[in-house]
Amino acid sequence: MPAIFPRWTNNVPIVVGLVAPLGGASLIFAVWYWFSPWFTDVGYRPEQPVAYSHKLHAGELGIDCRYCHNTVEKAAHAAIPPAATCMNCHELVKTDSKRLEPVRESYKTGEAIPWVRVHQLPDYAYFNHSPHVAAGVGCASCHGRVDQMVVVEMKQPLSMGWCLDCHRDPKPNLRPLDQVTNMNWDASETPYDPDRDASRKRKVNPPTHCSGCHR
Ligand code: HEC
Ligand code: HEC
Ligand code: HEC
Ligand code: HEC
Ligand code: HEC
Repeated sequence: MPAIFPRWTNNVPIVVGLVAPLGGASLIFAVWYWFSPWFTDVGYRPEQPVAYSHKLHAGELGIDCRYCHNTVEKAAHAAIPPAATCMNCHELVKTDSKRLEPVRESYKTGEAIPWVRVHQLPDYAYFNHSPHVAAGVGCASCHGRVDQMVVVEMKQPLSMGWCLDCHRDPKPNLRPLDQVTNMNWDASETPYDPDRDASRKRKVNPPTHCSGCHR
């Protein structure tokens, strides 16, 4: 009885077994190669629809980050404030400013101001602000001196290596729990040892295993 398949096909499962993972690996590489520079460009500073300045509001006026990003302690994402938050002041301040026209418009119509995102991780990576804030990692450690930025820009690469560098040795990035939003807090002026801080209930232990950040 002649064989239906030539003898060499006996090896197909072996070949598939060897090539498929390579194919998977090159797919991951392609995804990494084509998409990650977009997400990891330090210095990325998109133009925004309103000339809102953190340097003026968070720096000179000294408004706390949490006044606007009010979910950052409790949620994964730090909320971008609605126009109503701005209008708490701008109903009285600069009421005829042209630059505030889109804010007044959004307040009237309820349609969100189309702010352009600056920081954005790919979907396959999991990040949550609240445990970082609860552990006493300052906004400045990941976002830089936002209080000095007229236009927000990316200061850290948000790459896997960057996350892991801190997760392997978080201690130098920890500060007193009530200093998280203080842009002027400086470890070289105020030496701080988290192990001697009685307000901390436990030692921090950030994940370094894959499923910690890829769920
Ligand atoms: C008066 C309100 C207000 C305050 C106070 C404020 N922000 Fe913002 N923040 C905004 C708005 C509006 C945006 C979106 C527009 C932009 O990117 O500039 C934003 C954007 C950001 C972004 C970029 C978000 C993205 O798209 O990736 C970061 C990071 C940020 N703020 C951090 C901070 C920090 C840190 C502080 C405290 C030092 C702070 N903000 C204080 C209103 C505020
Ligand atoms: C451990 C690093 C880290 C710390 C600390 C941190 N952020 Fe972020 N922040 C990120 C990352 C990463 C993203 C992008 C998140 C994503 O794409 O899911 C981000 C995004 C944001 C955004 C855009 C909206 C969002 O949540 O995606 C705002 C606004 C923001 N951060 C404000 C703050 C403020 C205010 C603080 C301090 C209270 C803070 N961040 C502390 C890493 C950090
Ligand atoms: C706590 C009060 C307060 C809040 C909240 C606030 N602002 Fe302001 N804003 C001010 C003050 C004060 C000035 C400066 C006025 C001056 O130059 O004399 C200002 C100036 C501005 C200007 C410049 C206007 C011009 O014509 O020079 C813009 C734009 C602006 N704010 C946008 C925003 C946006 C967007 C928000 C909400 C995300 C916001 N502000 C929230 C107080 C506030
Ligand atoms: C500057 C230091 C620092 C950086 C940068 C940092 N982390 Fe963390 N991370 C921590 C600390 C501290 C904790 C808290 C651990 C604890 O409470 O035991 C933590 C906890 C976590 C947790 C566990 C809590 C949870 O939500 O389940 C995840 C997941 C996480 N980080 C993801 C990330 C990712 C993704 C990045 C990069 C985009 C990142 N982290 C960057 C310091 C950092
Ligand atoms: C602390 C959080 C964290 C841990 C732990 C982690 N990753 Fe990641 N990983 C990320 C982030 C954030 C990205 C997205 C990086 C980017 O956008 O450049 C990423 C990206 C990747 C990518 C896409 C390729 C690349 O490098 O951009 C692969 C594959 C990957 N991780 C595999 C793993 C494996 C395997 C492990 C366990 C050994 C692991 N990760 C552990 C945060 C983490």
